[in-house]
Amino acid sequence: MPNENMKVITVMTRKGGAGKTMLTRALTSAAMSQGKKCLVLDADPQQALFRWAKKLEISDPNFSIEQLTTPEAFEARTEEAWEEGSIDYVFVDTLGAAGAWADDLAAFSDVLVVPMMLSNDDLEITQDTYGWYRDLRQRTEDPENLPAFHVVLSSVPARMNKTEKELEVQAVQSFPVIENYFMERKQHKDAASQGFLHYLAEDRRNNEVALLRTHAKLYDEALEEAQAILKDILGGV
Ligand SMILES: Nc1ncnc2c1ncn2[C@@H]1O[C@H](COP(=O)(O)OP(=O)(O)O)[C@@H](O)[C@H]1O
Ligand SMILES: [Mg+2]
Repeated sequence: MPNENMKVITVMTRKGGAGKTMLTRALTSAAMSQGKKCLVLDADPQQALFRWAKKLEISDPNFSIEQLTTPEAFEARTEEAWEEGSIDYVFVDTLGAAGAWADDLAAFSDVLVVPMMLSNDDLEITQDTYGWYRDLRQRTEDPENLPAFHVVLSSVPARMNKTEKELEVQAVQSFPVIENYFMERKQHKDAASQGFLHYLAEDRRNNEVALLRTHAKLYDEALEEAQAILKDILGGV
């Protein structure tokens, strides 16, 4: 039976190194830890997430990952997942230079998530990306069917300097920024080398070494933050 509640969440921006892959991984972990079944489609030709999952031999009933090479395949795969009915969330990790793909990704997504680091470059490119989205609203026949657009400030330092605070203000004034930020955390880098955040939290919790057990809460915090971001981006859909 089709899953009417399945959501397609596409992480995109024209910028490379903005935190797309890190955010996709964290959001997937957040959803899985809440018992949701996730399909990740890796549309980045570099296949960072796909290679990560293969290298770590991640095997989990709530997780599957596939390579995605064409917009046509995206439509077909999301349609198939919807009809099959067991997937709750499809996450799409994309390439840095959007462009040709962007319209097709938008056509079959429920939410567009745009990570932005606090740099001038990222601000400009995010403004461009938002410009593309607004232009798409103008061009399309049924703007109600377009996905929601959310910017997530990413790799935000716990203590922002003056420039970063100014960029934060400019971002909030320029496009829709969700309330929870994707903070800069060592735990996300650990996830990039060791496995999903919720696995690492469990691993530390059950560790023989007392000191490592105390680290479990750091992974829990990172996970809770990702859950809050997921809730924010799904708010309106
Ligand atoms: N929340 C975060 N905490 C710590 N480091 C981060 C975070 N987000 C991104 N990074 C750093 O930024 C780099 C680029 O992020 P990545 O997700 O690979 O970007 P993209 O997929 O957009 O090219 C990562 O390798 C990591 O070092
Ligand atoms: Mg990437």
